[in-house]
Amino acid sequence: MRTVYVNGEYLPETEARVSIFDRGFLMADGVYEVTSVLDGKLIDFDGHARRLERSLRALDMAMPVSEEELLAIHRELVARNGIDEGMVYLQVTRGAPGDRDFVFPDPDETPQTLVLFTQDKPGLADSPAAKKGIRIISIDDIRWGRRDIKTVQLLYPSMGKMMAKAAGVDDAWMVEDGLVTEGTSNNAYIVKGNRIITRGLSNDILHGITRAAVLRFAREAQMEVEERAFTIDEAKAADEAFITSASTFVMPVVEIDGVALGGGSPGKVAPRLREIYLEESRKAAI
Ligand code: PDD
Repeated sequence: MRTVYVNGEYLPETEARVSIFDRGFLMADGVYEVTSVLDGKLIDFDGHARRLERSLRALDMAMPVSEEELLAIHRELVARNGIDEGMVYLQVTRGAPGDRDFVFPDPDETPQTLVLFTQDKPGLADSPAAKKGIRIISIDDIRWGRRDIKTVQLLYPSMGKMMAKAAGVDDAWMVEDGLVTEGTSNNAYIVKGNRIITRGLSNDILHGITRAAVLRFAREAQMEVEERAFTIDEAKAADEAFITSASTFVMPVVEIDGVALGGGSPGKVAPRLREIYLEESRKAAI
């Protein structure tokens, strides 16, 4: 049984409790982070902690504990649960004011809720999907306008994954005004020759921590990076496509809306970026 963390306590998962009045539960008034674990160490912890602080600030919330304390909790959970490869999920909500009310509670009277748990995923880095590539469909992006805040409002991304499942494929890319925003739980890229194209940062997409690292490694490897939006038609005509996230790292996309890319197998760029990302991230893991 997993040991989880809730508001200062390490508990067996069956004994962990959050109030029914918690605003995360009633209003999706909370933010989250997913940090991957390789070799029992945290990948890009600083980036995730910084983004957490940014998400919280955008919603008028403070960090519930210091970054050092957060790191200590992550490490303690990884150790107690014996995680070699997997993830740490963290969620902060505006707490449980003891009743339902749209108005934010006074933070001095209502402490935030802080929950963390681990997910054990042996073989995460050596995933068979990364060798085969994944297939995606495009769907309308009907989410709200602050996708740069990592809130727990994940109903539409969940529905997107279900639409992909119903279509017999692996995932979906979302399209707004004719342009791809991002994947349901990842950032989206296409490759033309030596050039990697991905949407620029704005309120329209989550500022992926994996994205930042991968673009840095790509530039260091003398690849060209173009940060601009692209259409699904442009993606279907690309040499390669891929996604990035903390849970998939770099994952080749080999089919978009039924159109095979590169004959339906991963090309050169995405697998190479995955290799570099995993190697560099392992070196920098803490
Ligand atoms: N999802 N875009 C969206 C909408 C996401 O939900 C995520 C991450 C990303 C990639 O961000 P990062 O590289 O920092 O993981 C982009 C996480 C993994 C999740 O919801 O499980």
